[in-house]
Amino acid sequence: MKRICIYPGSFDPITYGHMDIIARARGLFDELVVAIAHNIRKNSLFTISERIEMISELTGKFGNVTVDAFDGLLVDYVRKRNACCVVRGLRAFSDFEYEFQMALTNRKLNDSFETIFLMTHENYSFISSSLVKELIEFGGDISAFVPEPVEHRLKEKLYVHREQ
Ligand code: PNS
Repeated sequence: MKRICIYPGSFDPITYGHMDIIARARGLFDELVVAIAHNIRKNSLFTISERIEMISELTGKFGNVTVDAFDGLLVDYVRKRNACCVVRGLRAFSDFEYEFQMALTNRKLNDSFETIFLMTHENYSFISSSLVKELIEFGGDISAFVPEPVEHRLKEKLYVHREQ
């Protein structure tokens, strides 16, 4: 049976930190699904379709990576996709509490899959989508944090926002 792993997140936008997790996790499974969650509690900068486009463009070179979006609970999506695993990146100790709570809650809801954590490469351990958005807002250089197509899209968004 095909071993499918889900990499869920907001990816608003995708950073080099996410790319690093994708590149390493895809080697461990037959298929890695980057799954964008419709997050009702977060005010997103990019629409789901924009995020799908960006991630697809950046991961197109990887044969076993697909991109999708889901509504509702992650555990239901994992079941629907017949996945055996969920992967999340751990950047710093500060991520641990949130990740631990999510993984254990998910296991209580459905114990038929495992959550695994990959340590983000030390070069990217301090990068977050929120930080990138704040930097670009104030004119900071984000080229070390996000791939060029993402930087381009961020600048486009900012331009549109400023024009409004
Ligand atoms: O990139 P993020 O914002 O840290 O990702 C969080 C995400 C999307 C993985 C989490 O919020 C999630 O799984 N959302 C789907 C809804 C759900 O299942 N919530 C209960 C989690 S215990």
